[in-house]
Amino acid sequence: MAPASVRITGWGMYAPERVLTNADLEKLVDTSDEWIRTRTGIRERRVAAPHESTATLAAVAGKRAIAVAGLAPDDIDLILVATLTPDYWMPSTAALVKEAIGNRTAAAMDVMAACSGFVYAYATADSFVRSGMYRNVLVCGAELLTRFLDFSDRNTCILFGDGAGAVVVSASDEPGGGMGGLELTTDPDGAYMIWLPSGGSRSPASGETIRRGEHFIRMEGRETYRFATKTLATSALKAIERAGWTLGDVDLVIPHQANIRIIESVAKGLGISMDRMFVNVDRYGNTSAASVGIALAEAVDSGRIKVGDRIVFVAFGAGFTSGAVALEWTADPLDGRRAASVEAVASVRAPLDWDSVDPMPPRLMNVLESGLPVPLDDVVPGEPEHARVP
Ligand code: ACO
Repeated sequence: MAPASVRITGWGMYAPERVLTNADLEKLVDTSDEWIRTRTGIRERRVAAPHESTATLAAVAGKRAIAVAGLAPDDIDLILVATLTPDYWMPSTAALVKEAIGNRTAAAMDVMAACSGFVYAYATADSFVRSGMYRNVLVCGAELLTRFLDFSDRNTCILFGDGAGAVVVSASDEPGGGMGGLELTTDPDGAYMIWLPSGGSRSPASGETIRRGEHFIRMEGRETYRFATKTLATSALKAIERAGWTLGDVDLVIPHQANIRIIESVAKGLGISMDRMFVNVDRYGNTSAASVGIALAEAVDSGRIKVGDRIVFVAFGAGFTSGAVALEWTADPLDGRRAASVEAVASVRAPLDWDSVDPMPPRLMNVLESGLPVPLDDVVPGEPEHARVP
């Protein structure tokens, strides 16, 4: 039976402990902290530890979201994982997350729409619940981008980081609230503006593809920037219009965290002040499909969102894809405290008779191992100091 409404009931995030600063990147490529901060707004990003994978990051964020929703793992009917950096080509990362969170009943699948993935997966979850097919859907956006970066390419390696964000989307017997407007677009003109050339059916992995470095992310930064600034504002406006709101009704925009200049230009284009745009790109860099989920969890937990607020998620990414959701917030932000009971660990069953190679990029590992402790005054407020010391 179709529910009276569809609402976010749980949220959570996970960021790996290890911090990679701009100063660390100066040791790897010809760049500077000043260039990175002024061109992107990024000060640091997180790097997953060797024992972590996209599935473990998603599972921690997912378990936190389920705890915040006040549910048990088996209450989840469907698990969606948005990612462009899956653990394997198959099985899906969502299948691994299902086992890692201790769920025995859900269907599970991945959603691939690059940095717009969280918005696409959220829209998919909303549709399943709205139709009456499922009551609770777990949406995870998770990325381990540092394993797909060429740490000798300054155009890409400074931009991305690792992490995961998650929400539980649930059926409610009370009317009102939840998603009011949605816009999803895909523009294949941008297909090769951000891409990872090899390892797929068009160019299977081989010694030659590795020699050419085709297992790393490639990007045309300027073209992507142009697309992003144009599309984010248009997509947000369409979702707002479909919700029957005006821009003045919007309390907070949660944009994909790719570049502070892109976020500022979208605010300018929409004619809204930066205090209505949520920003954390300075601390995580671009975490692709995880970015909106991480930003949402931080926005709720830091008191930026309250019951009745009208918020907009908006993202763009490879494809090119874009997506925007306009929704009214209904959950008690204090429920976020329940996430504290969830330990920041998850384990995914290893295959029999097979072991992976060392997953850490050697150039990155050298820098991380030679890192000096970050001075105390550079510690992000609220972060334990030990998280900053390699
Ligand atoms: N350090 C120092 N100099 C650099 C660096 C670096 N890390 N990277 C590039 N430069 C140089 C360039 O070589 C260029 O030098 P030149 O003028 O001698 O040729 C100069 O800096 C300016 O380069 P631009 O590309 O014009 O710099 P721009 O201001 O456009 O900033 C950036 C580059 C940050 C990549 C920007 O274009 C951008 O943010 N684009 C969008 C990227 C993005 O959001 N990607 C994610 C997509 S989402 C997904 O689905 C994965």
